[in-house]
Amino acid sequence: MAYALTVFATVILGGWVQTVVNWIYDPDPSEDSLYHLFVSEFTNHCGLDYWAPYSRVIRAESTNGPIGPYEFKQKIAPSFAHNPSVVWNEAEQLYVLYSIGCRTEVPASCKNMDYSCGPGNTINGESGISVRTSPDLRDWTSHGQVIQGANDGSWDADTTNPAPLHFPFGSSGNDPEVILAYRGCPYNCSGEELINVASASDPTSSYKRIHPRKPIFQEPSEDPFIWEDFRGNYHMLVHSLLPDAGFGDGPNVGRHAFARSWNGKWTFNNATVAFNTTVHFTDGPSVNYYRRERPNIFFSDDGMMRPLFLSTGVQKVNSSMSYSLIQPIGNGE
Ligand SMILES: *[C@@H]1O[C@H](CO)[C@@H](O)[C@H](O)[C@H]1NC(C)=O
Ligand SMILES: *[C@@H]1O[C@H](CO)[C@@H](O)[C@H](O)[C@H]1NC(C)=O
Ligand SMILES: *[C@@H]1O[C@H](CO)[C@@H](O)[C@H](O)[C@H]1NC(C)=O
Ligand SMILES: *[C@@H]1O[C@H](CO)[C@@H](O)[C@H](O)[C@H]1NC(C)=O
Repeated sequence: MAYALTVFATVILGGWVQTVVNWIYDPDPSEDSLYHLFVSEFTNHCGLDYWAPYSRVIRAESTNGPIGPYEFKQKIAPSFAHNPSVVWNEAEQLYVLYSIGCRTEVPASCKNMDYSCGPGNTINGESGISVRTSPDLRDWTSHGQVIQGANDGSWDADTTNPAPLHFPFGSSGNDPEVILAYRGCPYNCSGEELINVASASDPTSSYKRIHPRKPIFQEPSEDPFIWEDFRGNYHMLVHSLLPDAGFGDGPNVGRHAFARSWNGKWTFNNATVAFNTTVHFTDGPSVNYYRRERPNIFFSDDGMMRPLFLSTGVQKVNSSMSYSLIQPIGNGE
């Protein structure tokens, strides 16, 4: 992947101040010039440390291209809801929104609290992945959790960070219609965070983990983003949790993994860094962010899957706040 580049604009959404951490935008089915942003927004002016339980999922719109600015349009899921990822499912003719969380009463002022949204974690609600579907990105039907964690000693007892890839023509042969990369970690996320892949015959049916006893590669990572290129190879961007990355520990946060087939063998590219914490702005000095994570790529829709924009959630040094950043890859064309 091209290393980059230049940021024309940043996006800070909503009257609630805080945003991050995952989002995706799609050209509107009915209007070419309309772009949608699905983003986590932290209510009550709480900072990134309070993402759980204050995060909710909202939709925003841009009429000025993928780079924004975006304007708040709609609440999609109340707190606690986090980590939205949207894909178009051609076979079902529906948009599918993945997220984590469950409706939770939150204290008025920013406070951490113990709560659970399902097996695998009783400290916060991150374990368990839910699905919503919509014909138009606006009216959403909830289908509940499609993959859950477990109250046992497995490496991915805590199951979170959904990253969907849907094949356009439904299940065929050994290929399922729906692939879901996810991050697992032991109960209460008390150990290493690693990546695995699950699959399903359709978006709302139950998901089956591949390699249930082991992750797809050994390098600790979270926040996978998965895609298939136009040659049929598979790729992931991840937020690396190696010692030179992590949560403010080092700059080399963005890593790439690849495979010939969605079910492996996956290789973590430890030779090069996909993106680091430094961002160059066209209208100001470079910023070396404290944290940069939750990568997501916006591709060309000409069949070539050219990566055009990279979005990440960022946090500056000495700031409790975070926001979403959209950066052109190359010239973004
Ligand atoms: C998970 O966290 C809860 C709440 O702090 C604690 O009571 C429980 O013992 C922990 N369970 C495991 C398996 O770590
Ligand atoms: C990030 O990578 C760029 C390009 O290699 C480099 O110039 C910059 O120093 C790196 N930032 C950090 C904090 O290492
Ligand atoms: C990088 O990957 C290669 C091949 O998988 C492995 O042999 C090597 O130990 C890795 N190096 C580090 C620093 O993780
Ligand atoms: C962060 O805060 C420390 C302590 O106040 C200060 O020394 C440092 O310059 C600050 N860094 C930035 C980038 O603002």
